[in-house]
Amino acid sequence: MIKNSSYKTLISNLEYLKLNQMILHLDEVLSNASKNNLSFTDMLIKLTSHEIDFKEANMIKSMVKVGAFPHHKSIEDFDFNFQPTIDKNRINELATLRFIETAKNVVLLGSSGVGKTHLATSLGIIAAKHRYSSYFIKCHDLIMQLYKAKLENRLEARLKHFTKYKCLIIDEIGYLPINEVEAKLFFQLIDKRYEKRATIITTNIEFSKWGEIFGDPVIANAILGRILHHSEVIAITGDSYRLRNYCNKEE
Ligand SMILES: Nc1ncnc2c1ncn2[C@@H]1O[C@H](COP(=O)(O)OP(=O)(O)O)[C@@H](O)[C@H]1O
Ligand SMILES: [Mg+2]
Repeated sequence: MIKNSSYKTLISNLEYLKLNQMILHLDEVLSNASKNNLSFTDMLIKLTSHEIDFKEANMIKSMVKVGAFPHHKSIEDFDFNFQPTIDKNRINELATLRFIETAKNVVLLGSSGVGKTHLATSLGIIAAKHRYSSYFIKCHDLIMQLYKAKLENRLEARLKHFTKYKCLIIDEIGYLPINEVEAKLFFQLIDKRYEKRATIITTNIEFSKWGEIFGDPVIANAILGRILHHSEVIAITGDSYRLRNYCNKEE
């Protein structure tokens, strides 16, 4: 390819516009265009598509990074044969992300090691990849952040921050005790998200015992009512995957 002065000007224009992918693919697109007699428009489409694909991929990467997910396991990594109480079709339906569009909640309920965090995370990653702002946080950390914000007189801003996520994953409700003040803070967030935003929750505590974890049955009911009103509850009763090599199942 002859690198004449217009070619050099084009490169410097693209550099100025920071269209690095177009620079990178320029020679290939130009030679492909002349080989296949591509129209000027088609050639520009090819060239700009390289830039768009790169920007899209970066955007997806950063959405996933912002999500603060504990790992990057997917639904495909989940062995549904190991956990037969989970209906794979229901999980696939959730993976369509309709629940986010309709601001429905997802509750994954079951004992330790049955795959609650795995499934919650993989749904969150799908959401982030589809550009829904998503965020993963452990319930205890969330409450601590709200508590700190309250002490610093910036609770409203913090609540607003956590309300804006289209898909918020609150992991491990009930693993650690929650006092009345903390329960009220948690209620405020759930109330703000109610019917507006989708929340995925994992818990090992059956709903009838939520009064005990929140230290107050009235607040617990108010929280539970709002979470369950529009929700998909996936109750998992099975063995811990973590302990799969230590449990000898009777055939
Ligand atoms: N059915 C499964 N197939 C594949 N890996 C699983 C399955 N269930 C759990 N795991 C893995 O086992 C570990 C514990 O699962 P996790 O989702 O953290 O459990 P939970 O949140 O219910 O305590 C994780 O590494 C997870 O990826
Ligand atoms: Mg977990």
